[in-house]
Amino acid sequence: MPAGLTHNHELRSFEGPGLYLHIPFCLRKCPYCDFFSVPSNPALLATYPDLLIAQLEHESHLQRWQGPFSTVFFGGGTPSLLQPKAIGRILTQADRLFGLTSKVEISLEANPGTVSAKSLSGYRAAGINRLSFGVQSLNDAHLKRLGRIHSAADACNAVRWARKAGFDNLSCDLIFALPHQSTQAALADLKALLQLEPQHLSCYGLGIEPDTVFAQQLDTGKLHPVSEEVYAEMFCQLHLQLAEAGFEHYEISNYTRPGKACLHNLNTWQRHPYLGLGPGAHSFCANEWGERRYAPPDLETYIESVSTGLDPSVSLETFDRTGAMAETAYLGLRCTEGVNDAGFFNRFGIRFAEAFPQAIARCKEHLSLQHGHWRLDLRGWLLFDHFISGFL
Ligand SMILES: C[S@@+](CC[C@H](N)C(=O)[O-])C[C@H]1O[C@@H](n2cnc3c(N)ncnc32)[C@H](O)[C@@H]1O
Ligand code: SF4
Repeated sequence: MPAGLTHNHELRSFEGPGLYLHIPFCLRKCPYCDFFSVPSNPALLATYPDLLIAQLEHESHLQRWQGPFSTVFFGGGTPSLLQPKAIGRILTQADRLFGLTSKVEISLEANPGTVSAKSLSGYRAAGINRLSFGVQSLNDAHLKRLGRIHSAADACNAVRWARKAGFDNLSCDLIFALPHQSTQAALADLKALLQLEPQHLSCYGLGIEPDTVFAQQLDTGKLHPVSEEVYAEMFCQLHLQLAEAGFEHYEISNYTRPGKACLHNLNTWQRHPYLGLGPGAHSFCANEWGERRYAPPDLETYIESVSTGLDPSVSLETFDRTGAMAETAYLGLRCTEGVNDAGFFNRFGIRFAEAFPQAIARCKEHLSLQHGHWRLDLRGWLLFDHFISGFL
């Protein structure tokens, strides 16, 4: 095992596939976000859970998936727009149709502007045992620039209510490298967030995604991203501050207190199977070299397919051996655990070093084999897109 690794994931055996449920509704679209979502309305929110349950039933008849699920993840969009009762119904059906393992991790992404002490207690009672809050920043001016529907105080209240409701596995999302943000301001955000004592943090550098309002603002000169130097400084400083606070940096954007890594995402990065439900949700079947399926991100088509008993999902990509090796590198090198050298040989019949000699050479000292695992260092993660292109 690489020196210093104490994660709950290193020696964990795979216990069952994951289940991802996409909740494609938002109260207001944030100007930076390209996740699939539509404006929410009460009628759609009321009927949507039954569509997910119908798709789950359909999948159980197709027998493509072998339960029990070891992780369930309600992602969005804004899953916290669903009533706790609806979440409870979906979980009951997932358990009935496929089973849930005894230690199942059940996560829900929550927008702090959509929750109350009551709804959070309801989610806990419905079976959610991990919450991920989209805090983004604890600076009201930055929250406004990000088009968020909540203030810093709302986010702090949401985290406190969650704790009172009995949640002991809380994650917060932070976005850094905001337009005009200084490294000091990003670190101040982090410091304020740490006072809320989350078990897990996702720290994303702001990405300017095509077809978003921020992309338009960039084109018209109304948005000035931070320089590459400032981005690098923020990334490294966040890493240092979080290491000092006792967090493990276990994936490029993810930090955890020991034992609280997100198992659902870890399984994804390890190419374990997961079933995705809802428009825009991806599934990964681990048969042969692997196949990725998805239901196209179009709510009307999804509703029509599911209501008429059709499978809304289509095949996106069927991997051959070369593609599976490349994806193993792409996903594995994102994580501290890296790519297991012996595991790679057992799976593909070739050593990692023989499969990718040029790509490995290009990473220079930033990629090394330590205790049987190929791992990128911090600078390697910072330049991930550049280095990983050699493996693809
Ligand atoms: C589905 S959202 C989280 C839940 C909820 N919708 C919310 O916003 O509170 C997933 C996370 O992705 C991150 N994210 C989305 N677009 C991003 C972008 N362009 N750059 C960086 N982070 C982004 C945000 O931190 C966001 O909380
Ligand atoms: S960041 Fe969250 S709330 Fe904002 S548009 Fe994206 S999914 Fe919706």
